Amino acid sequence: MQKKIYLSSPHMSDEGYEMEFVKEAFETNWIAPLGPNVEMFEKEFASKVGAERAVALSSGTAAIHLALRAAGVKDGDKVFCSSLTFSASANPIIYERAIPVFIDSDYETWNMSPEALEEAFDRHPDAKAVIVVHLYGLSADMDKILPICRKHDAVIIEDAAESLGAYYKGKHTGTIGDYGIFSFNGNKIITTSGGGMLVTNDEERAEKVRFWATQSRDPARHYQHSELGFNYRMSNVLAGIGRGQLKVLEKRVQKKTSIFEFYKKNLGTLEGIEFMPINEWNEPNYWLSCITMNGRVRPIDIMEALEKENIECRPIWKPMHMQPFFERFEFVGNGVSESLFKNGVCLPSDTKMTEDDMKKVLETVKGLHI
Ligand SMILES: Cc1ncc(COP(=O)(O)O)c(C=O)c1O
Repeated sequence: MQKKIYLSSPHMSDEGYEMEFVKEAFETNWIAPLGPNVEMFEKEFASKVGAERAVALSSGTAAIHLALRAAGVKDGDKVFCSSLTFSASANPIIYERAIPVFIDSDYETWNMSPEALEEAFDRHPDAKAVIVVHLYGLSADMDKILPICRKHDAVIIEDAAESLGAYYKGKHTGTIGDYGIFSFNGNKIITTSGGGMLVTNDEERAEKVRFWATQSRDPARHYQHSELGFNYRMSNVLAGIGRGQLKVLEKRVQKKTSIFEFYKKNLGTLEGIEFMPINEWNEPNYWLSCITMNGRVRPIDIMEALEKENIECRPIWKPMHMQPFFERFEFVGNGVSESLFKNGVCLPSDTKMTEDDMKKVLETVKGLHI
């Protein structure tokens, strides 16, 4: 069996940072929810991204869910959401019985189109919140999106699940709107096996999120609950992994950048291949290196050829408005996300890839005589 090359898999530090924090949790028997690693992970994370407050949670999805609650989203409210994303961006809208309206991408950013967003507000001026995704570690054009949302008093939730380590005009993605969420799922740039983080500069709202995430336990000696609660906190063991991983974030971004540059240099001139857009105001984390193909060779040809060599790759996200579960909801746009889905491929972007692995991917793609 040939060695498998992964799309993006967990990569613990060579230095063993994660193990040190986990070991400490074991030695002190501090395994159960919360504890010193959680507290420190939140502090270190907030300082890394430049946010006032960070709350460590059980997943990125949980973070979006509580961000929607913090935004005051209620039954029947409209919430705008990028269509080109993973379903976890949109599912929590349904948890709260709100109504998603999906917004198209533009080719300049692959992220939320400001024009489509304006049109959505023309149709629904009272939309309560907007979930803007920073896809594949590319940032949305926040200077255009922010004023449109502010004009309509809509709360801005940045889904930065894929963009830890990515900056927009010098600001970390996820810290520009009202709330930012991150994911430490196994395929993300750093991982805690599963986990998430919510960041905000609003101290009071951060405390509220922390309260909801720990079953909304009122400050009383007995167990008393005046609000609906959730079991969404991160455990002290997993926070230890996160603290160790955070130390190697820059290294991971560097490696992901070099993978992208390698592909671009060697595949960029081939007929019909275009790389995801890198704007001058954008410092991506290059979580995944993505291309679109408009020539003779189709994405399925590349995917099948790579799979035959035991190399993992995948299509661009299928837009939410095309998903059987979500297609009954409104969509505003003109087909950009559909075309990115139809023509796009995510190339292997695993930080453990060797130079030989990268060359193998290249040879396989070039072998298709594009
Ligand atoms: C864009 C996006 N949003 C949200 C999530 C959800 O994060 P989690 O898997 O930690 O719940 C993910 C990834 O899993 C994602 O890629």
